[in-house]
Amino acid sequence: MTEIDIKPSGAPLGADVIGLDVSAAIDEKTMAMIRATFALYGVLCFRNQSLTERELIDFTRQFGEVESYVLSDYALKDYPEILVVSNIVENGEPVGLRDAGTTWHTDMSYIPAPPAATILYAKEVPVNEKGEILGDTLFASTAAAYDALPDELKGQLDGRRTTHSYEAKHARRAQEGKSNRKPVSQAQRDALPPVDHPVIRTHAESDRHCIYVVAGECKGITGMSDGEATDLLEMLATHCVKEEFQYRHKWRPGDVLIWDNCLVQHLALHDYALPQRRLMLRTTVKGSPPI
Ligand code: SIN
Repeated sequence: MTEIDIKPSGAPLGADVIGLDVSAAIDEKTMAMIRATFALYGVLCFRNQSLTERELIDFTRQFGEVESYVLSDYALKDYPEILVVSNIVENGEPVGLRDAGTTWHTDMSYIPAPPAATILYAKEVPVNEKGEILGDTLFASTAAAYDALPDELKGQLDGRRTTHSYEAKHARRAQEGKSNRKPVSQAQRDALPPVDHPVIRTHAESDRHCIYVVAGECKGITGMSDGEATDLLEMLATHCVKEEFQYRHKWRPGDVLIWDNCLVQHLALHDYALPQRRLMLRTTVKGSPPI
């Protein structure tokens, strides 16, 4: 087994894993330890890594089946499992998805089986003229947020479901000026119809209950009037991402960071602009329908 150190962030989620080269083969005992640590912290960062695209995919596979993003526009040609997240423009064309993560969300909650986890590999990180790093990602613990709810509300939410919608998500981002995507097409609407998920889902490995509500993306709660549901969804979405449940990740080139899409919501700060360049490679691990 490889000697590794775990350095918790001090927030309710997030830890650095020190002493592991994720491009190399990792023995099963070490991997089991990493998976258990991941279930505990929800976000793990492996610093100072240097990976080929193939190695990134192989490392992702250590957490489960690798799946592709719903849009293929910014997938790498030779590695369609890798999505490029970037603000870089080459020959007048964006090299990657520029508006990823501009509002608090959990990845692809608008599909029946959202990804269990997402990995970002930082290739280039924006820096300002004072040498300060920009483009941080904020993470919030949906489990700590659930734990902090009053018992009576926990009881009321038990067994309830809400509807997540891809179209609503992008309509909201466009309305807030946080997206530069074309409006959702009829083909996308047909491919990604709204789906129902539990308002509170259970994390498979840790059994923790987690709030699974995304602001602007969810509509209605089973057994409640529309007005009651709208107010409650708004309250839950706001509660979930309160500062006390957050960890803020300051990227360095070479970071490989994985987050759990049940335990965590995230928000990418777009506080930089060209010539400050940000280039990330993203992979996702297939999940199962939330329960
Ligand atoms: C995302 O939401 O997938 C992107 C997060 C980031 O770019 O920091």
